[in-house]
Amino acid sequence: MLPQEIIRKKRNKEKLSNQDISEFIKGITDGTIMDSQTAAMTMAIFLNGMTPEETTALTLAMRDSGDVLSWKELDKPIVDKHSSGGVGDKVSLMLAPMLAACGVYVPMISGRGLGHTGGTLDKFDSIPGYKTMPDNNLFRKTVKEVGCAIIGQTGNLAPADKKIYAIRDICATVESIDLITASILSKKLAAGLQYLVMDLKCGNGAFMASIDDARNLAKSIVRVANLAGTKTTALLTDMNQVLGHNVGNALEMKEAVEFLKGENIDPRLHKITMELCAELLVNSKITENTSQALQKLQQCLDSGKALEYFARMVTALGGPKDFCDNYEKYLAKASVIRPVYAKQKGYIAAMQTRNIGLALIELKGGRTRSDQKLDYATGFSDFCHIGDKIEKDKPLCFVHAQNEDDYQQAAQNILKNITISENIPYPASEIIEKIGE
Ligand code: URA
Repeated sequence: MLPQEIIRKKRNKEKLSNQDISEFIKGITDGTIMDSQTAAMTMAIFLNGMTPEETTALTLAMRDSGDVLSWKELDKPIVDKHSSGGVGDKVSLMLAPMLAACGVYVPMISGRGLGHTGGTLDKFDSIPGYKTMPDNNLFRKTVKEVGCAIIGQTGNLAPADKKIYAIRDICATVESIDLITASILSKKLAAGLQYLVMDLKCGNGAFMASIDDARNLAKSIVRVANLAGTKTTALLTDMNQVLGHNVGNALEMKEAVEFLKGENIDPRLHKITMELCAELLVNSKITENTSQALQKLQQCLDSGKALEYFARMVTALGGPKDFCDNYEKYLAKASVIRPVYAKQKGYIAAMQTRNIGLALIELKGGRTRSDQKLDYATGFSDFCHIGDKIEKDKPLCFVHAQNEDDYQQAAQNILKNITISENIPYPASEIIEKIGE
């Protein structure tokens, strides 16, 4: 069918056939369909929506627009997690080695920071020598020999998504559940996964601020991924405050290594990481139930096995052999590291988490231009949590900046974006809801 006729069908709220969708995506990939036609189609989908079957066909066509990895030679489940993004979200850094230590393979293809949220890849770039964009052979060798590899989107993985995403970004069609579902899943499914867990963050530091929006997206992703043959569940998790102790690339890497060593573990970060891992261990039948999975995961942490897998992954991908022993030596440090104190007594009642993510960008730990080189050293450490009592000698956080002016600006940002109240706030649970099939 002519491209304009396929667009017309969707414009008129008719259901597209699998053939319509695969022809259109093929045309986008080989350049025979014009950007203006792609823009018109994304707007028609944005306005009129798609059925789960159409979204599944779109996801599969986008997945098949490039290479689809196959792990046939591996004899254990292939699993991964995807997070919709947050502030201080370093879950992937621990989750991949924890799962590998429990006997599954984790070929994790992650992204850079997006908007106010941090990116796993930027965190790994803070390790000197670590190749976040290795060639395919090194990626496969690391997954096979270590069990996990965290890298960036290389080569020809879901190229149709790259084109469509760039057009959606400038045509006001990003916030469509069907398009987001196909975009996220096409990349994940191209990595050849058998099991996936989604961490759908909701709250003022997430892209989906409301629970209803996050739930709808989770339901769509779970439905389509399962229709496409990848067993998937999702957790809705709280993002109304910074996750863990630190925000910033090297600072989050430090926190992850300490977590794997059993030092200074933030309980919310521990709970979310453990529950996401447990979903995958149960779904892939490595364990019979969640409590067995949690026990196995805790053993991998306590015995140092998860840390060992992390260290092996870092070394296999070009990082220092002694990184986990000497991470303080390898990670960049800021010139000015100073506390920020609250100006009043009381309890931490709320934080404007998105603005804290933006404050990291002001410290050059996140991007304002896509080609920007990051300052890995900057950020915030020892961040307070909702419910903490303000004590005279306990700062809200430490700012890591490269000069006095940046410190002052960041300290103002922190003070402006943390709400203090006289009353102890009602504690929010980390895991809001589980979405299964
Ligand atoms: N992340 C993606 O990869 N795609 C979207 O559409 C939104 C978030």
